[in-house]
Amino acid sequence: MPIDPRFGRDTSVPLAANKHLLRWVDKMAELTQPAAIHWVDGSRQENDQLCQQMVESGTFIRLNQDLWPGCYYARSDASDVARVEDRTFICSYSKDNAGPTNNWVHPDEMRRKLKSLFEGAMRGRTMYVLPYSMGPIGSPMSQIGVQLTDSPYAVVNMRIMARTGIEVFREIDRDSKRVVPCMHTVGAPLAPGQADVPWPCNKEKYIVHFPERREIWSYGSGYGGNALLGKKCFALRIASNIARDEGWMAEHMLILGVESPGGEKTYVAAAFPSACGKTNFAMMIPPEGFEGWRVWTVGDDIAWIKPDASGRLRAINPEAGFFGVAPGTSDKTNPNAMATLRRNTVFTNVALTPEGGVWWEGMTDDPPAECIDWQGNRWTPQIARETGAKAAHPNARFTAPASQCPTIDPAWEDPEGVPLSAIIFGGRRATTMPLVFQAFNWGAGVYAGATMGSEMTVAAAGTIGKVRRDPMAMLPFCGYHMGDYFRHWIKMQRSLSETPRVFHVNWFRKDSEGNFIWPGFGQNMRVLKWIVDRAHGRSLSRETPIGWMPRYDDIEWSGLDFPREKFDELQAFDRNAWRTEVLGHEELFIDLHDHLPKELVYERELLICRL
Ligand code: OXD
Ligand code: MN
Repeated sequence: MPIDPRFGRDTSVPLAANKHLLRWVDKMAELTQPAAIHWVDGSRQENDQLCQQMVESGTFIRLNQDLWPGCYYARSDASDVARVEDRTFICSYSKDNAGPTNNWVHPDEMRRKLKSLFEGAMRGRTMYVLPYSMGPIGSPMSQIGVQLTDSPYAVVNMRIMARTGIEVFREIDRDSKRVVPCMHTVGAPLAPGQADVPWPCNKEKYIVHFPERREIWSYGSGYGGNALLGKKCFALRIASNIARDEGWMAEHMLILGVESPGGEKTYVAAAFPSACGKTNFAMMIPPEGFEGWRVWTVGDDIAWIKPDASGRLRAINPEAGFFGVAPGTSDKTNPNAMATLRRNTVFTNVALTPEGGVWWEGMTDDPPAECIDWQGNRWTPQIARETGAKAAHPNARFTAPASQCPTIDPAWEDPEGVPLSAIIFGGRRATTMPLVFQAFNWGAGVYAGATMGSEMTVAAAGTIGKVRRDPMAMLPFCGYHMGDYFRHWIKMQRSLSETPRVFHVNWFRKDSEGNFIWPGFGQNMRVLKWIVDRAHGRSLSRETPIGWMPRYDDIEWSGLDFPREKFDELQAFDRNAWRTEVLGHEELFIDLHDHLPKELVYERELLICRL
């Protein structure tokens, strides 16, 4: 690499000619003072070099290539294991635009803070100039970002999660498309001669979004959504702002296609809060009794949804990979995910087996006799019994290419997206919420999504089991005022010739003994089939105060012996429980009251009247 005479640092050849980009890279290099700059071409060879470099620095362990071809293993610092919602900021010009559900600091104050944090933050490290496209390159629905990062781990993971490299630079040079600048540092500069650690990071963390300027600054973390800035930061928080301004939607939703034995294809999108089984649902295998049916995967986490010229909603998955939770994933719960992650995958914070493979809780019925846990300590089933130590961190992840998924939809990279016939909301609820109901209309559907709740899981700090309101599963991801976001949903109907039907599901209802009533997983296909049939105006149901519900005979039961009484228990509509439920909705509405669209206030009134 030649030395850049201006800064005395090594600089690879700039791969773009766009003068705004070049000027910005210079300016940011001046601020962060990296020892070298590397323009990422996205090639296989470059990726291999980065992985090799990380093996040498101790960040990566190369897995046994006979068992896990192309796979690497990383252990993060024990303090850097998840998204940090309390350190995530939406710095709009006015606090009111960020709304009560986001952390806000005045942008001028935050810029001063970030400037001081980023000053010299990349000393002793290489700054990578990483261009990426969210969505297929060149699609009218795609958006482009450039992440400057001092984390080769982020570069290698982003290459799986997004389209990166030279093609994107070409797109930037060719097109006037706006680029979202993304600054990222692990916040661990190296003094001359100072040895590096396997997982550099900083105790102090800032995940900052400037919605009006469409900019992202992330400091101090190398993990997941904090560091792979295309995902939650861009594709949800910044994109939700762009989408509102341009009349489309950026949603925390999986997208799947259901194919009937007759070849009819129906696409649906579904929003469930983090750690509620979105990846499993997106890759579902239809159960016995559904011979000839197929479920195709378009995406497992994020959907960008836009009306087409005829007024139908079409959706793309802006990502190119899956950043899935490993624990609980197995050949039984999700064989398609297991097949996807067999090669070219990065594993983070799972356990390492003596033969150079990986393991996590729930992967196999029998644990390995011993392994090294996610913190680098020896782990055996006996140690686990005695101390409760987990081999894998509960938020351990695999980063795997979507193209390797056996059920990846043939149209998953269609630049126009796939047509959406239904939208599904769901949460984890032990009581009150039936297995499935269909909202009466778009407005009632928006209300069902807006008031969605889920019992807390290990994915976020809080009291486990308490119902947290998580509107459209977007609570940590909506980049502006949640009340305005609801208004945007309501208004979307005006640009549609046909609205998708809206449903609410709950796989997690429990009986009086605390057992799940519904078997879930592949059996969810029975619910999905009813949803598809309803979306096409085919299947019957009964009207209840909360919406349309299937009767026992409206569900396809072949291949499953599920008693009528159990179904009645699962679908029970309890008027008193619902009265309490509606009071719970008020909590959220009070917080958002001055931005709440009146349609939602009326929907609530109507529901109360029906109850
Ligand atoms: C995720 C999340 O990682 O929602 O997808 O937390
Ligand atoms: Mn998610």
